Amino acid sequence: MSTQPAFPSFPEGFVFGAATAAYQIEGAATEDGRGPSIWDVYSRTPGRTFRGHTGDIACDHYHRYADDVRLLKELGVDSYRFSIAWPRIQPDGSGPVNPAGLDFYDRLVDELLAAGIEPAVTLYHWDLPQSLEDRGGWRIRETAELFGEYSGIMARRLGDRVPRWITLNEPWCSAFLGYSVGRHAPGAQQGTPALAAAHHLLVGHGHAVSALRAEGVREVGITLNPDWNVPATDSDADLAAVVRADTQHNLVWTDPLFAGRYPATETETWGELIERQDFRQDGDLELIGQPLDFVGVNYYRPTMVTEAPHREPDPALRTASDNRYAEVPYTGVRHTAMNWPVVPETFTQLLVAMKERYGDALPPVHITENGTAEHDTVAADGQIHDTDRVQYLADHLGALRAAMDAGVDVRGYYVWSLLDNYEWALGYAKRFGIIRVDYETQERTPKDSYHWYRGLIEAHRP
Ligand code: FCB
Repeated sequence: MSTQPAFPSFPEGFVFGAATAAYQIEGAATEDGRGPSIWDVYSRTPGRTFRGHTGDIACDHYHRYADDVRLLKELGVDSYRFSIAWPRIQPDGSGPVNPAGLDFYDRLVDELLAAGIEPAVTLYHWDLPQSLEDRGGWRIRETAELFGEYSGIMARRLGDRVPRWITLNEPWCSAFLGYSVGRHAPGAQQGTPALAAAHHLLVGHGHAVSALRAEGVREVGITLNPDWNVPATDSDADLAAVVRADTQHNLVWTDPLFAGRYPATETETWGELIERQDFRQDGDLELIGQPLDFVGVNYYRPTMVTEAPHREPDPALRTASDNRYAEVPYTGVRHTAMNWPVVPETFTQLLVAMKERYGDALPPVHITENGTAEHDTVAADGQIHDTDRVQYLADHLGALRAAMDAGVDVRGYYVWSLLDNYEWALGYAKRFGIIRVDYETQERTPKDSYHWYRGLIEAHRP
């Protein structure tokens, strides 16, 4: 490698990690009793994903997990964040447990512990058992209750060895990309049902917290993807658009979690849809607002927004994300292979703003995802000199450090992702890994970013 960005420095005890998710890496979609998830059905539906890509094989991690743990060990991470595929545990989403599914995660956890790596488990990274979707999915309250039961099953099995538990990953995506925009499974485009899904995800989180606490696990949290919305101009209209975007993207999650209420700006955001709130019941806010040990923040990029007309003029047909704002191109900065703008200082701004809004009610933060998809190429020497990714990581870790200096209590950082993997509707077209995966041979090649991150971790060893 030529010149490398300097290593930002973090306090003693800061957790360095790497993250993945089940459907994106495991493959073995029909093996050992795993039931179908909404992502199996969605990805097999023509026209839904890039070139019809599915997670059927993905990185074949289900069979190669021991090799992948070896790569984590060489990387030197303190912790590895992975998710449990609910349909491996309960193929129908409720009722009988599939022992082979539990055994797989048991083996993975033991392999990690033997390598000196702390497991961090995400209970729900979007792969809802399809049979629960057939019954109504997150639109109905029963799913939240069943999620609590499944969380208890996992805590009983792994709670003695897994210190850090994340209930949901990015519920915004589950509710709004899944039930309103339709770009994620199950691909619905609905109004009130998407709002009900958002609420039931939070209720499910609450049930999971109760179940995890009952088993006495060490740390419980939730992972959100708060957006940093930048107004396109300083007009009143654009500033109001930012408030609507903030409400929909951020406050609808963080206010119930950390302030015990739904945001007052909801009516402005959802209009007539919010009139039908019969899915919200007494006691829900207490369940949702139970104290957490940490909040997981996934951050990639800011969003520039402007006022826009409703996309659907008929209120009766309007979806919950049709909120009179639109994203506009963020000019004058580099863009990644996702076409995402790279503006590291917004990472600092976001974290500081969260701290300002919630004060001491904001739990300690773990950055549970941060990283970038780039146009990687394999050089003549067989290596991947992903200079842009190295720079991205260095700049975002620097911005994170700046947030800590400004008083935000950040305890750890998990790079997304350990491996190139199945990027949801974009299939295998986007590579986020610090390790390249050749999908023909399943060969893994650590990229320069892997070596850089290993150096950073190494520099923090006593
Ligand atoms: C996040 C997801 C993760 C991955 C990254 C790029 O929204 O949690 O699974 O797809 O984006």
